[in-house]
Amino acid sequence: MNKQLLLAGFVGSGFAARFHYDALQRVFSVKVEVAGAYSPSADNLREFTSQRNLKAFESLEELIDASDVIHVCTPPVTHEPIVVAALRKNKHVIVEKPFTGYFGDGTEAFNGDTFSREEGLEATLTSIRNMLEAEKASEGLIMYAENWIYAPAIQKEREILQKTGAQVLWMHGEQSHSGSHSLAYGQWKLSGGGSMIGKGCHPLAAAIYLKHVEGRTRTGNPIRPKTISARTHAITRMPAYQDEGYLKTTYKDTEDFALLHVVFEDGTIADVFASELVMGGVHNWLEVNTSNHRTICQVNPNTSMQSYTPDGKHFRDVYVVEKTETKQGWSSISPDEGWFAGYQHEMDAFYRSAAFGEPVESNGQLAADVISTIYAGYVSAARKGAEVTVPIL
Ligand SMILES: NC(=O)c1ccc[n+]([C@@H]2O[C@H](COP(=O)([O-])OP(=O)(O)OC[C@H]3O[C@@H](n4cnc5c(N)ncnc54)[C@H](O)[C@@H]3O)[C@@H](O)[C@H]2O)c1
Repeated sequence: MNKQLLLAGFVGSGFAARFHYDALQRVFSVKVEVAGAYSPSADNLREFTSQRNLKAFESLEELIDASDVIHVCTPPVTHEPIVVAALRKNKHVIVEKPFTGYFGDGTEAFNGDTFSREEGLEATLTSIRNMLEAEKASEGLIMYAENWIYAPAIQKEREILQKTGAQVLWMHGEQSHSGSHSLAYGQWKLSGGGSMIGKGCHPLAAAIYLKHVEGRTRTGNPIRPKTISARTHAITRMPAYQDEGYLKTTYKDTEDFALLHVVFEDGTIADVFASELVMGGVHNWLEVNTSNHRTICQVNPNTSMQSYTPDGKHFRDVYVVEKTETKQGWSSISPDEGWFAGYQHEMDAFYRSAAFGEPVESNGQLAADVISTIYAGYVSAARKGAEVTVPIL
């Protein structure tokens, strides 16, 4: 496909659809028009489309037929069938994180705390394979909407790695905040897990990406994850948890803390924290220690702007930064949060790939490595942190 005007179709009309739409307004390399949106929740769809003057489609099939690029902005449990349906019609897909997962056996009795992690890993690998095989048979591409890959700080580190030929020795990073607004998030059958997949997927993807980049730069082949040792905990579900109302406590059968230790094929390592236990706004960062430099990527918050007010009432109408509890005192205001998070950069890059055939940085292989690592991590966590091999597809 090599044309200047591409038609975007949105599956889902919630939070992610809104920020995808906003990011599309800042795509400048390709002319993009929005064909419309489809979601099964009629009120939600009407609100999303009428506010933006978009067509509301009555079926997924019609939306796919009318679009060149499908944005999969739906709960993780729905990603695989939508991705496969779009690829079968030779359309590109931009699929939100997490790529896929295991969502139970469909029974009422399914419980995220107790199912066999080995079975979960096998089912997840099948789901990943189904999407990668659909991509192979399609003219369309999988574009994994992992915004961390396109965050300017991570892309600058990519450039440094490529120009210095550094060996990445140890990375450590985190994505945490005080808890998700979405009730679907705490139910394994909808989310495919808790903090490890929902939040850990972001810094983990960036760490795996940088090892892919290093490997391609130094030897021509990506360096991929080999083993993982992980621990998970459900801290806010403990009977002894002291709830003072600041952290969300809506998790039914998922963890709210995860620690991941990943060993790559070359013996180097990455450590990732993910949790719902952190106040003071989101805590998203990655530190990269290499053979010739050390970089700290402050994705959010960062110090590009800091502002003080003695009383939060003055900032009542001012957006400050994601999930901060108070605006009183000093705030690390984000003057353009979507820019620092990489949202507009990922969309511009994806549409350049769709229009001009540029390679996709956040592609199906990266998505597969991230999710295989996480589900091997769930096997490890069930064995209290024993080292587990990451199946590489
Ligand atoms: N990259 C990020 O920073 C980021 C942030 C938030 C959410 N996400 C991801 O975006 C995805 C969507 O999350 P959200 O917060 O927008 O959820 P949401 O609940 O706000 O919206 C989900 C939408 O999907 C629709 N939907 C549900 N089942 C569907 C189906 N079978 N077919 C079509 N539409 C269906 C719903 O009607 C709703 O419009 C998730 O994978 C989530 O992890 C990513």
